[in-house]
Amino acid sequence: MHVDFIQTQPVQDLLDRASGTLVAGGSPRLKAILRDWLASTMELIVKHDIDESEFWQAIAFLQNGAGELGLIVPGVGLEHFLDLYMDAKDREAGRDGGTPRTIEGPLYVENAPLVENDANLTSDPDDTGTLYMTGRVMGPDGEAVTNAVLHVWHANSKGFYSHFDPTGEQTPFNNRRRIKLGSDGHYSFNSKMPNGYSVPPAGATDQLMSALGRHGNRPAHVHFFVEAPGYRTLTTQINFGDDPFAADDFAFGTREGLLPVPNRQGDSAHIAFDFTLQRSEVADEEGFSQRVRTSA
Ligand SMILES: [Fe+2]
Repeated sequence: MHVDFIQTQPVQDLLDRASGTLVAGGSPRLKAILRDWLASTMELIVKHDIDESEFWQAIAFLQNGAGELGLIVPGVGLEHFLDLYMDAKDREAGRDGGTPRTIEGPLYVENAPLVENDANLTSDPDDTGTLYMTGRVMGPDGEAVTNAVLHVWHANSKGFYSHFDPTGEQTPFNNRRRIKLGSDGHYSFNSKMPNGYSVPPAGATDQLMSALGRHGNRPAHVHFFVEAPGYRTLTTQINFGDDPFAADDFAFGTREGLLPVPNRQGDSAHIAFDFTLQRSEVADEEGFSQRVRTSA
């Protein structure tokens, strides 16, 4: 059947009623978005002739995989798409430049210890080398950004994050800190070398990736938020340029400009990386998105 079926009166009436379009009250924006979302889903059903069994299989996948939606969304590229969309809107507004943004992922935890420069991020023993990172936070003209806070979080050598470690071995906020920088914008920290990781075996994301003929691996990486008065908060991460999955990240988090190659010595490494922020144009941009984040 042709997707024009969606345009028939009974289907259009259903869309109007289901989205609350015909009644007062509620959010006009939500009504419009939900109506379009339902119509797009209906078009998919007709276009691919999705039958009842397949439809309920998809619903069951979402129900059973709800706990992994934070991985499924980047895995199917939607989180990266948001970056591409924000980049395009920035370009349209003439706001090029600075360190590229990239996906936050689902594993940030609020309220990590606030420490001064030259911090050690790791609280727990880990049988791996040291990661030493140095650089500076600057503005569009190369000026030092003062009073920046660098939020850093990364996995341990097994690829697990504190607060989300299935082995239960890590203490709270291991490999997580907020680093308060001074007036020169310079930062440096020590940590234990993270490794790349894969999605939980046999979980919903893993099942989906297998069904797509894809893998669920990420290269070793370190996540950052960079916030500073007068500048736009940056969400980004560096991915190790010499990792086997550097160019094949299942979550599409690796981007050009964010792939420094570590200077390795044995199992330790130094990474030099500078952050360039854009100036904020409205106060909102100095904060964070309203994404719901884990708090501890
Ligand atoms: Fe990560």
